[in-house]
This record gives sequence, structure tokens and C-alpha cells, in this order.
Amino acid sequence: MVPNIVTANEVGMESQETYNYRVVRQFAVMTVIWGVVGLLVGVIIAAQLAWPALNFDIPWLTYSRLRPLHTNAVIFAFGGSALFATSYYVVQRTCQARLFAGGLAAFTFWGWNLVIVAAAISLPMGWTTGKEYAELEWPIDILITLVWVSYAIVFFGTIVKRKVQHIYVANWFFGAFIITVAVLHIVNSAELPVSLTKSYSAYAGTIDAMVQWWYGHNAVGFFLTAGFLGIMYYFIPKQAERPIYSYRLSVVHFWTLIAIYMWAGPHHLHYTALPDWAQSLGMAFSLLLLAPSWGGMINGIMTLSGAWHKLRTDPILRFLIVSLSFYGMSTFEGPMMSIKTVNALSHYTDWTIGHVHSGALGWVGLVSMGAMYFLIPRVFNRDGMYSKKLIEVHFWTATIGIVLYIAAMWIAGVMQGLMWRAVNDDGTLTYSFVESLEATYPYYVVRLLGGLLYLFGMLVMLYNTIKTISGAKSPEAVPQSA
Ligand code: HEM
Ligand code: HEM
Repeated sequence: MVPNIVTANEVGMESQETYNYRVVRQFAVMTVIWGVVGLLVGVIIAAQLAWPALNFDIPWLTYSRLRPLHTNAVIFAFGGSALFATSYYVVQRTCQARLFAGGLAAFTFWGWNLVIVAAAISLPMGWTTGKEYAELEWPIDILITLVWVSYAIVFFGTIVKRKVQHIYVANWFFGAFIITVAVLHIVNSAELPVSLTKSYSAYAGTIDAMVQWWYGHNAVGFFLTAGFLGIMYYFIPKQAERPIYSYRLSVVHFWTLIAIYMWAGPHHLHYTALPDWAQSLGMAFSLLLLAPSWGGMINGIMTLSGAWHKLRTDPILRFLIVSLSFYGMSTFEGPMMSIKTVNALSHYTDWTIGHVHSGALGWVGLVSMGAMYFLIPRVFNRDGMYSKKLIEVHFWTATIGIVLYIAAMWIAGVMQGLMWRAVNDDGTLTYSFVESLEATYPYYVVRLLGGLLYLFGMLVMLYNTIKTISGAKSPEAVPQSA
């Protein structure tokens, strides 16, 4: 029989004591806090791109050091905390079992936050491996490995002691994310330390680049996608109170996605020293990736069949469903950008940045926020979030912010690509680089505006979360008549 988490799996086990909610609460709160921090740094570097003087000539405030701080904070601190919180919640609920090894689960919380604090100190200090999304130096890499192995033990240990036979599909996605990130991190971080703060990669030249982008692309595929699909497969059916549209499609989605993602990394290295056949292979697999990505998106959206009206009144559902539209948008755009001739235009331009943030702000950000709005009142034993109106405000400021951000970057990116390749009749370049930079300036200001709106929404969420946790009485509660 096809499992149905909405009606069957979780009946009868409600109490806070049955499950380990402590670690879920901790990670949920840190998701909101690190979200604010990561977005704030994003806004600062967006402002620096418009007004470079904003680094005030202070080395640790320079763009080069704050940019990796932003990416690490949003991906690993904000996104990572959301993934820990949701996976620990979902695995317990769908397995009807308390988390395995509670002490180890607590270690993952403190260990992961120590990694983040170490990143927040070491990156502004300029200590970096120089590998994108893997910038942290070797002592921190070792700590990450310890935390991650503990995470795997807690997660899979819980699966092993489950009280229901079936393993719900969300857990498959979380499981694949945990295993793959372990492999990616360990292989790509192989390095030779020369001091406490400096190491060199174990790989050289083109091989180093290929290993790095095998890692980089799969970090997108498994950290920023598979884990968040786990979130999608649990929280959308729950919030919509509908079973997933097609359980069979979700299984096909899982296997095709993980089989194809692994091979697409070379699309980051088009027109480089990487052998041409490897580049073409990466492009072919990227094009194939469109099918499972859209299959998954359709499965999520169609779960609302017969319940579309809920979108009108339920802002949490809106967060979850709109995140899927951005997922669809970025997974259509990605395969197009992987086509070599398209990449010849898009690479090095802000088009890539627009693509990244339609996935990051639209998909990863919104699905995490929706899941947190669902989860926070439940793990803190409250009737709901403090204010539904403030969730609405968050939804609209975030959505308008995303649109401003990505539209500005798309226009700027295509403009840059076209300006750089424009030639006069005599073969000389029509525009200098500085001219293209000057033309980009207004779009950087619009992007900053979009970022500010998105950050504002996150601050509203922080306020709403604090009020919810402190048990404040909702201003929207209907007063009881005497
Ligand atoms: C307030 C919201 C945000 C703002 C204003 C912002 C701003 C920026 C800026 C200015 C850059 C550098 C672009 C460049 O080098 O030209 C950047 C890069 C990046 N951001 Fe954000 N960001 C925000 C939110 C996020 C979120 C939520 C995520 C992920 C979940 C994210 C992931 C990234 C990544 C992966 C890069 C590197 C892209 C690349 O190297 O191609 N950002 N961001
Ligand atoms: C079918 C799925 C996808 C494909 C085939 C794909 C493909 C691509 C391509 C071709 C690039 C440009 C590479 C370059 O010119 O350097 C790129 C960059 C990027 N994509 Fe995607 N993308 C997909 C989905 C996503 C999603 C859902 C996200 C985020 C959640 C994402 C995040 C990124 C990031 C962070 C980069 C910038 C990497 C860097 O240079 O630092 N992608 N992607």
C-alpha cells in the first residue's frame, strides 16, 4: 500500500516527550538567527558592489573576505540549520521513533555552530583554501567531518529503530543528502597542511578544478536541492492536508535525480583546459536533469489538487508552493545555461548571480521559511505562529525582493555578455570593460533594494518567532465576548 503521511503514519504519537524536540528547537531558532546574519552580509556586499568605498579600507571588511562569509553563512549556517531541524523532525515523526543517540544529536548542534563561529572568524581574517564553498581551512574541515559523521549516525540510527516498516520518501532525500555531502566534503577537502591556518589541495591543475566543481555542483545538487526536496515532500502534504500527488513519481524523481546530478559538474568549466568531451558530457547530463527536476516540482505543486483555494488564505502554503515555482524556474534556467553556446554568453556575468539567487532566495529560502513557520509552533507547543499577518508581510516583502534581485541580475547579465562580445567593423571591441561596469551600476542598486526587502522579511520572521516562543498573545486572536 502506498504510504500516506497525512492520514496514516503519524497517528497516535503527539507528545513532546515521545520525540527529541530539543535539538529541533535549537536548530529551528538558529535557522532564523543565521538567516538574518547571512542576509545582512549579503546586503553589505551588494552595497559594496554599488559603492566600493563601503569597505572603509579595513581588510576584514573587504568584499573578497565578506563574500565567502555570505555564501558560507547562507548555505551552511542558515540552510544547514534548516536541514538539521527539519530532517530531525521528519525522521522522528515518520519513523515514529525518538532520535537515536540523543547525546550525539546534541553534539551535532554545538559542533555545527562551532564550525559557523570558526568560519565567521577565519574568513574575515583572510584564512581560506580559495576553493569556492569549501573555503574553510583544514582544522575546521576536520570538525565538519566529525559533525557530519555524527549526523549520519543519528539519522540512520533513527531509521534503523523505526516502528513503521516503510521509509517515507522525504527520508530518502535527506539520507542521500547526508551521505553525498560526506563523500563530497572528504574528497574535495583532501589537503596538505603547512600551518594551522594554511593548507594546499591534494590535487593539482585541471584535476583540482574538476574535483572542485564535482564538489561545487553536487553541493548545489545535494545540499541546496536534495535536502530541501526532503523538506518539500513532508511539509507540503502536511500543510495542504493532502497526500503527495504521486508517490510513484516521487520514487522515480529520487532515483533519476541522484543518478544524473553526479555527472553535471563540468558545466562549470566550459571553455577551460578540461577535455572537451568532459565538458560536453557535463552539458548532456545537465540537460537531462531538467526532467527529474520538473517531475519533482510538478509532484509538489499537484499535491494541491483539490485544495488550490487554500493558497488564498494560507501564507505558509504560499511560501512552500511559490518556492517550488522558483525551483522550476532555476532548474529550467540551469540546463539552458549549461549549453556551451549559451554559457559563452552567461559565464562571468551577473546572469549566473541571477540564476544562483532565483534558486537560493526563491527555492531554498522560501521553502525553509515555510517549513519553519510550520514547525516552530509545533515544537514549542504553541497553537500557531504569533501573527499570521506578519507571515503575510514576510511573504510579500520576500517575493518582491526576489523579483527585484533576479530581474536586475538577468538584465545586467545579458547586457554585460552582449557588451563584452560586441565588435566594430574593424574587429576592435565596441565597449571597454569599464563601460560595461558603468552600465551595470543602476542594476546593482536595484539588487540592493531587493536584498533589503528580503532581509526586512527575515527580520519580521525573527520578531514573529520571538513572540511565538515567548508565548505572547496574538493580536489577531478573536476576543471572547463576555
Ligand atoms: C538579502 C539577500 C541576499 C543578498 C542581497 C545577496 C547578495 C549577494 C551578492 C552581492 C553576491 C556576490 C555576487 C557577485 O559576486 O557578483 C552573492 C553571492 C552568492 N550568494 Fe547571495 N545574497 C542574498 C541571499 C542569498 C541566499 C539566501 C543564498 C543561499 C541560500 C545566497 C547564496 C549565494 C551564493 C551561492 C553566491 C555565490 C554565487 C556565485 O559565485 O556564482 N545568497 N550574494
Ligand atoms: C537542473 C538543475 C540545474 C542546472 C543544470 C544548473 C546549471 C548551472 C550552470 C550551467 C551554471 C553556470 C556555470 C558557470 O557558467 O560557471 C550554474 C551556476 C550555479 N547554480 Fe545552477 N543549475 C541548476 C539548478 C540550480 C539550483 C536549484 C541552484 C540553487 C539552489 C543552483 C545554484 C547554482 C550556483 C550557486 C551556481 C554558481 C556556482 C559558482 O560559479 O559559484 N543551481 N548552474
